[in-house]
Amino acid sequence: MSVPIERDVATLRQKVAAWRREGLTIGVVPTMGALHEGHLSLVRSALDRADRVIVTLFVNPKQFNSAADLAAYPRTENEDAAKLAPLGAHLLFCPDGDAMYPPGFATTVSVTGVSEGLCGAHRPGHFDGVSTVVTKLLLQTGADFAFFGEKDFQQLQVVRRLVADLNIPVEIVGCPTVREEDGLALSSRNLRLSAEERAVAPALAGILSRTADRIENGASVGEALAEARDAMASAGFREVEYLELRGEDGLKPMMTLDRPARLLVAAWLGETRLIDNVRVAPKR
Ligand code: PAF
Repeated sequence: MSVPIERDVATLRQKVAAWRREGLTIGVVPTMGALHEGHLSLVRSALDRADRVIVTLFVNPKQFNSAADLAAYPRTENEDAAKLAPLGAHLLFCPDGDAMYPPGFATTVSVTGVSEGLCGAHRPGHFDGVSTVVTKLLLQTGADFAFFGEKDFQQLQVVRRLVADLNIPVEIVGCPTVREEDGLALSSRNLRLSAEERAVAPALAGILSRTADRIENGASVGEALAEARDAMASAGFREVEYLELRGEDGLKPMMTLDRPARLLVAAWLGETRLIDNVRVAPKR
């Protein structure tokens, strides 16, 4: 069994139109490939929800800040297709660079507000790149549902915002972060960790979860965040890029837990940047 691969937008649209004529619903799972269990869980959610599931694979140059990072990004189309086949995904859409950004391409989708701060502050242009490509993928596939992981929580909020603002007729479905048994959030970047770094990495999730508990139990947000930063440094993280409590809806900074929130972190372990987040909610 294999997954049909499509590269051409016009042919993709014909296939989608044929499914629509049969009255079928369509789900899309946008990815940049190098698929791991986190992506596969999105595909399973999509298969539960929609009659036909398109997985997209496009390493989007517009969302990388550094040419070296883009060049180093794993490209594993054959392995990715092999992972998708047993799940029953219906189509793998792998446009090439020119199909996505033909000569003369001059449009940027830029979301303000939720894209500011956090990853937006440390990766200039990143969310413009994400917003532009996600808008295109949603319009190209015409999907009814699109599935994104909560691990990239800020990205999920940016996508929700652009879909609402541009009246794109798709339901955005956020799916829980998938973790290793030791708590480390799955990410293609985990493969870059040395054995020693891999042993340290789960401390990030542990510290986040303990800090969330403390805040939920009434600790001062400022003190809990400062102690969490110290704990990350002691565990071996060389830099904490950000560690913040933000409102779950709208991502506004919070210093008092008066509504549901997310505790979000980006930290460097050697040369690898890890991100993670957990929910923090006031006790009733
Ligand atoms: O999360 C990702 O893998 C990418 O940012 C996405 C949504 C596929 C857009 O390129």
